[in-house]
Amino acid sequence: MASASRQPERAPPEDNPYVREPELEFAPVEDLDAGQAREQAQALREAIDHHDYRYYTLNDPIVSDHAYDRLFGRLEELEEVFDLDRQGSPTRRVGGPVLDELETVDHVSPMLSLDASEEAEEVRSWADMVEGKVGDVAFSCEPKFDGFSIELVYEDGQIARAVTRGDGRRGEDVTENVLTIGQVPTTIPDAPDLLAVRGEVYMPKSAFQAFNEERVQRGEDAFANPRNAAAGTVRMLDPSTVARRPLSLFVYDILETSAPDPDTQQAAVERLRGYGFPVPDRHELVDNVEGVIAYRERLVEDREDLDYEVDGAIAKVDDQSVWDELGTTARHPRWAFAYKLPPKTGTTRMQGITVQVGRTGQLTPVAMLEPLDVQGVTIRRASLHNAEQVAELGVGEGAEVTVERAGDVIPQVKQVLEPGQTSFTMPETCPVCGSEVVQEGPQHFCTGGLACPAQLRARLEHYGSREAMDIEGLGEKTAHLLVDEGLVTELVDLYELTVEDLVALDRYAEKSARNLVEEIEASRDTDLTSFLYGLGIRHVGRDTARRLVERFTLDELMDATEDQLREIEGLGPKVAAAVRRLFTSEAGRGTVEALRAVGVSPRREQGGDELAGLTVVFTGALEGYTRREATEMLEHHGANVTSSVTSNTDYLVVGEDPGSKLDEAREREVPVLDEEAFEAEIVDRLPP
Ligand code: IVH
Repeated sequence: MASASRQPERAPPEDNPYVREPELEFAPVEDLDAGQAREQAQALREAIDHHDYRYYTLNDPIVSDHAYDRLFGRLEELEEVFDLDRQGSPTRRVGGPVLDELETVDHVSPMLSLDASEEAEEVRSWADMVEGKVGDVAFSCEPKFDGFSIELVYEDGQIARAVTRGDGRRGEDVTENVLTIGQVPTTIPDAPDLLAVRGEVYMPKSAFQAFNEERVQRGEDAFANPRNAAAGTVRMLDPSTVARRPLSLFVYDILETSAPDPDTQQAAVERLRGYGFPVPDRHELVDNVEGVIAYRERLVEDREDLDYEVDGAIAKVDDQSVWDELGTTARHPRWAFAYKLPPKTGTTRMQGITVQVGRTGQLTPVAMLEPLDVQGVTIRRASLHNAEQVAELGVGEGAEVTVERAGDVIPQVKQVLEPGQTSFTMPETCPVCGSEVVQEGPQHFCTGGLACPAQLRARLEHYGSREAMDIEGLGEKTAHLLVDEGLVTELVDLYELTVEDLVALDRYAEKSARNLVEEIEASRDTDLTSFLYGLGIRHVGRDTARRLVERFTLDELMDATEDQLREIEGLGPKVAAAVRRLFTSEAGRGTVEALRAVGVSPRREQGGDELAGLTVVFTGALEGYTRREATEMLEHHGANVTSSVTSNTDYLVVGEDPGSKLDEAREREVPVLDEEAFEAEIVDRLPP
């Protein structure tokens, strides 16, 4: 009995010209008086908020990006010129100023937690208790979202604040951050004077994977699961960083309203939908407790297909008029119960710990496990992150451990039931190349640099990747082969490879050998951003590389001090130190010099910032450009070209034979451009 879309969607603001005719001409701002400016700004806010709602919550925009940008630009201009109060304005979505700390504020009503169990019998006895007090009831069922809970308060239809759960009575004010989530309405037409609601901020599983991969590429630690990613993000001090992260929201409860209370939970959810909030997509009304149990079974079955993590099914007594009568215990309301899902964890024994060496030389202890099945997936290894964590957990061979699989990342060791041998220490020398290992904070690194085959293989693969030197054919397998066969002992050896060398390996036909050698040749002519990125400097992703190039030539960069590097806005001490380290270390500087000596001559691209803030992803082959040319052209004008489609992607440009990114883009409603549209929308608008 799904009750998905009975209620009409949120109505557009009445008679708003910028909803009806978004291309409407604006009079010059100078011709407006303050009153007219305020009025126009108000109309623009409502219209933009409605367009946000259509785009983010319904995935069904009714205006072009161009029209939207015009409206947004005009609103920003009015706010600036007439110094308007920006409370409730969608212009706050782009991320406000960096904060020193989060302020603590009181909740409108205390945020309790729920009584919960994984046992059907407990659910039945809860239902018995309810029915004993108030007679037979129907239950409204919803997923229990495994995210980060949040209270949103609206005053006079405008968002006043967003508050974290905190200790339940007081939480932290995270308004600026939460406003960057496009689904959060900034203005609610027809809202009561006071409206406080509760919901859950989460990171969609699909976006989480891409987001984590990008972090790892930048040399940052991966988040263990989407919940941690969401929680860590909501509490950040820099809202513009939050704005770039893919967060979503479900709102499921009206905490306080100056309008009459809804009669039922189903009505509450429908009212929330009518206000424009994203509401649980699987809420269902069931007649009795057996219906709750069946609902939860379906949730278990569908769990992997949902784009959010769930950790339970919540049954709420639908008739809210009996909620007061049921009352609360010390910590929980009696009108609701969480029937938990089996955790995505399992218990097994550790066979030992191995140490892996990554591209940056980082050593990661990995638990080798007796294989176990966790909700249909066989797990053999689990990350232990670093030596500190191994020590904290106190694990080793023979330990009995609980392993969690969350957000489809590498499983993690969560808990130790029996310690086993606890004698693990990080090796003092690299398990792959024998070089000395150094410690930086909790992390250990092999100092072998490119002399370490593990690092060399990974670096080589990175150097050849599309976003770096774009050497087709230099993938993981080839990189391994070249290193393992001793053909490449440092990056520069690539440029000395001959067709004969490759053919002699038996794995190469003459043609593919020739192709690879030609690809390597062609990579000598490259741009500086790709080259710097290709060097695989810790913490330096493409975006950072581009910013370095905007400021320095390669020669300048090789001699830049940390202070000079840090003059680049937003470039932190870790990045500056890593860049400096590369160019002062014998191996790093030597590699760059050797590459230049064999004719790798990176051009410094200097362009404008016409496309600043635009994030584009390519898939498939374009006719008029190589991938490389297209990327360079956009980056040259300040755009960000990334490899995976996330909710921050502005366009997916598709060529021949597009890959799975196209499905991803369709799913996320990311605008898709074919080559012709790409030229019309982007290329033709660039200055010559
Ligand atoms: S209703 C009195 N509905 O689960 C609490 N909570 O232990 C009423 N949660 O911290 C909460 N999904 O943040 C409710 N559909 C849902 C939920 C939900 C997740 C969280 C909530 C709370 C915890 C309850």
